[in-house]
Amino acid sequence: MINRQPPSTNAEAASPPFPAIVSRRAVLQMAGGAASLATISTVAAQPAPPPGQTGNALERVRLVVNGDARELELDPRQSLLDVLRETLDLTGTKKGCNQGACGACTVLLNGRRVVSCLTLAAMHDGAEITTIEGLSRGEELHPLQAAFIEHDGLQCGYCTPGQIMSGVGCIAEGHAGSPEEIQFWMSGNICRCGAYPGIVAAVADAAERS
Ligand code: FES
Ligand code: FES
Repeated sequence: MINRQPPSTNAEAASPPFPAIVSRRAVLQMAGGAASLATISTVAAQPAPPPGQTGNALERVRLVVNGDARELELDPRQSLLDVLRETLDLTGTKKGCNQGACGACTVLLNGRRVVSCLTLAAMHDGAEITTIEGLSRGEELHPLQAAFIEHDGLQCGYCTPGQIMSGVGCIAEGHAGSPEEIQFWMSGNICRCGAYPGIVAAVADAAERS
């Protein structure tokens, strides 16, 4: 890098000359070191929260989950997925990637399918949530649950709650008119076992019967 500073003053001329050419590596090392120090001093300036506490104020959030009204005190940073699994003990909703890439955590939020790992529970005060636990009526399976069994739409079953919730949304949206349409509109739900033929057949069957 060439030094393009304006001509030096007398005072500057008295100090040791800055090297006219500085390697890119040296500049990056200096910048990185400064950034690290700044980060460390910022973190060090914050008092650590007491053990077992997050340090963030809790937020009161009301949710209707599978028909039950729940009033919760939540850390505003908690994802909807973590609240379902860890606060409400509804572990049917699965955590796969935790970054919106696999669809294992799909639930219905006010009737629309969402990946619950990518949204914060505190953003949905007053919302209605349906998880896989809320689909059946007692012993009576939801038609799509029954169709998954009938068409062998699963192997290990890890993706299945998300597939079924997504399938329910897909049918309600009117996006289940053909196998190709189902494949397209369910493409956010990954199945590592490759049970796709059974999944598509189950969604198509349930859509036809609905
Ligand atoms: S766990 Fe949410 S998309 Fe994978
Ligand atoms: S059934 Fe195993 S990941 Fe889908």
